Amino acid sequence: MSETSLSPAVSPLSGRRILLGVSGSIAAYKAAPLTRLLVQAGAEVQVILTEAATAFVTPLTLGTLSKKPVLTGFLRDAAAGEWHNHVELGLWADALLIAPASANTIGQLANGLCPNLLCAVYLSARCPVFLAPAMDLDMYAHPAVMQNLARLRSFGNHVFESPSGELASGLRGPGRMLEPEDIVLQITHVLGQRSEK
Ligand SMILES: Cc1cc2nc3c(=O)[nH]c(=O)nc-3n(C[C@H](O)[C@H](O)[C@H](O)COP(=O)(O)O)c2cc1C
Repeated sequence: MSETSLSPAVSPLSGRRILLGVSGSIAAYKAAPLTRLLVQAGAEVQVILTEAATAFVTPLTLGTLSKKPVLTGFLRDAAAGEWHNHVELGLWADALLIAPASANTIGQLANGLCPNLLCAVYLSARCPVFLAPAMDLDMYAHPAVMQNLARLRSFGNHVFESPSGELASGLRGPGRMLEPEDIVLQITHVLGQRSEK
């Protein structure tokens, strides 16, 4: 993708506030180039990591790329009683992107569960929601995961199809996270259409 097509001057992402939720998939390493592309397109990016995601990609990396401290839980300073307001975050966002979306997080969101900050923000958000599932071949094909994804689509969420290819396990087929460039293109398209209305 050329720099020009994502430059702040032309991108519908320019000035948009994007919450990037990252969950515990091996594809979490791709959250770094994804953050960079969103920032290059002019978006203001607030990253939220699940606890599992912090084992795959560090808050330091994503905080540096997004130019904002990364959020990893409900509490900012437990001793002082300070917390991150999921309701305000949900209302702040022009888009919530969950990439990668693990089978676990997909299941929690599809069932209205709220064990962490990312799920609480999802339930509080009024903006368009985009999910990029990422997991191994048989996990992705499992009827439980397929049903959860169908449920999320039925709520109006944008669930990206997983492309086929080589997976971290060495198996081949669908399950990979959509590439960061393609995620940015799809979000740009949807947000661009909304701003034309
Ligand atoms: C090395 C490793 C790789 C994993 N990769 C994935 C993955 O690609 N997709 C997935 O859904 N779960 C994967 N998992 C399992 C999740 O990390 C686990 O279900 C975790 O509880 C997800 O938590 P979260 O949804 O709160 O981030 C992996 C686990 C390990 C140890």
